[in-house]
Amino acid sequence: MQPYQHFLSEILIDEKSLQARVKELGEQISADYQNQELLLICILRGGVPFMVDLSRHITIPHMMDFMAVSSYGIGRRESSGSARVTLDLQMDILDKNVILVEDIVDSGHTISSVLNMLETRQPKTLKICALLDKPERREAQVPIHYLGFTIPNKFVFGYGLDLDEYYRNLPFVGVVDLNKYKPSE
Ligand code: IMP
Ligand code: MG
Repeated sequence: MQPYQHFLSEILIDEKSLQARVKELGEQISADYQNQELLLICILRGGVPFMVDLSRHITIPHMMDFMAVSSYGIGRRESSGSARVTLDLQMDILDKNVILVEDIVDSGHTISSVLNMLETRQPKTLKICALLDKPERREAQVPIHYLGFTIPNKFVFGYGLDLDEYYRNLPFVGVVDLNKYKPSE
């Protein structure tokens, strides 16, 4: 029995569906940025598995950079309303085509703060690629140019999304039964 089995209420998106959709997104991005310079920016830590898989399906040359923001403290599941940069980019994004890669857009506060901050550095283009969208929870409106899946208002884990920093490695997206999950697990 897997350690998460008793609080996994359902597998929302299985590995096969995730991989198929990520491949489609990679192909779409490859076509849209043909003959152009492209920089993928991963928002740590949730965007890591998604960006790695996505990048493998992008057939045009591209660069990667990483940034981290804090909006959810460890053990908290509500967004604070604004995000603070805790690790900045190494690269200069001036005049570059940038795609921000995120695991999920929930309230929208994280991505909208990051967008506002990056806009001031004057990239050529700035788009958002999110694996998951939870529209019912939206408080800040953000454009999602490339989207994996729209999901209901449920707390999910796996494929980058954490449960108190664990389970980001799982190959599927599962729903947590919060009545059965205890943070020490
Ligand atoms: P937002 O600022 O509310 O849009 O929050 C976005 C961030 O919250 C994501 O990057 C995730 O790290 C985290 N988050 C939101 N919903 C979930 C969830 O269902 N499971 C795990 N993390 C989540
Ligand atoms: Mg998180």
